[in-house]
Amino acid sequence: MQQTSELQQMSEMRQTSEMRQTNDETVLQVAKLNKSFNTIQVLHDVSLDIYKNRTTTIYGKSGVGKSILLKCIIGITQADSGYIFYKDTDIRVKTVENRHLLHDFSYLFQESALFDSLTVFENISFPLYETLKLTDHDYIRDRVHELLGEVGLDNVNHKYPSELSGGMKKRVALARTLALQPRVMLCDEPTTGLDSITGKKIIELIHQTVKKKNITCVIISHNMNATLNVSDYVAFLDEGRLTFHGKPVEIFDLEQDSVQEFITTANLRKEDYSL
Ligand SMILES: Nc1ncnc2c1ncn2[C@@H]1O[C@H](COP(=O)(O)OP(=O)(O)OP(=O)(O)O)[C@@H](O)[C@H]1O
Ligand SMILES: [Mg+2]
Repeated sequence: MQQTSELQQMSEMRQTSEMRQTNDETVLQVAKLNKSFNTIQVLHDVSLDIYKNRTTTIYGKSGVGKSILLKCIIGITQADSGYIFYKDTDIRVKTVENRHLLHDFSYLFQESALFDSLTVFENISFPLYETLKLTDHDYIRDRVHELLGEVGLDNVNHKYPSELSGGMKKRVALARTLALQPRVMLCDEPTTGLDSITGKKIIELIHQTVKKKNITCVIISHNMNATLNVSDYVAFLDEGRLTFHGKPVEIFDLEQDSVQEFITTANLRKEDYSL
């Protein structure tokens, strides 16, 4: 049981974390998160609200702490201080119930992170056998087939990851992520290593999937060109600090050089976005 003083402190943190005017419901709330490696502080007091069934894209240059932020949320990396509330529970505290809540999350790794020694079928069925503990082979075969259909792949069951293109690997990784029917999907650089057209197709596929299935989605990206138009909210991380969180159209008026660089590189126009 958490102490009353700690609960009070958590409540205060939540109130100070973000006060944004929106009709969207906050489902995940990062509050005052800090993380250092040795003497180097990677995340500085990061506070961010993630809205239910919306897509939030976090932009930032290489090495600013984007992946670490996602890893802290899902618990792969332990934050030094701060809170991560999901459905009003601090999921940093690893109780049995909280571990259960984490089953709502799935993580699409920056490198697709498929098992090289397993076929596509085995990669996708792995979480069904191992995490969901399913045993009905016929059901699993049909489910893998269905998942591959959802990501637009056919006749790849028996292939190994080394026999797939980068775009196909991303699709298989997405199918594996969807196998667990996540409520929150965290996607770390889904366009890494892909040409711009394939990258856009993968983002479009993620977008269609999360909208169809009502999944809350967080995307980490350098690639504003592929992601801005599918984002309901955007945030910027700069040297471990959150410097902006708002609607895509709002970024065009920001004066931060790092933001303007992203916009110029992506060749985007404010007229194409609305509040
Ligand atoms: N396990 C670790 N031990 C020590 N330092 C780490 C560790 N993991 C990450 N870092 C450092 O934390 C910083 C942020 O890393 P992170 O992977 O979050 O960057 P990123 O914003 O995702 O970058 P990229 O866009 O290149 O993926 C980097 O300086 C990195 O070297
Ligand atoms: Mg990263």
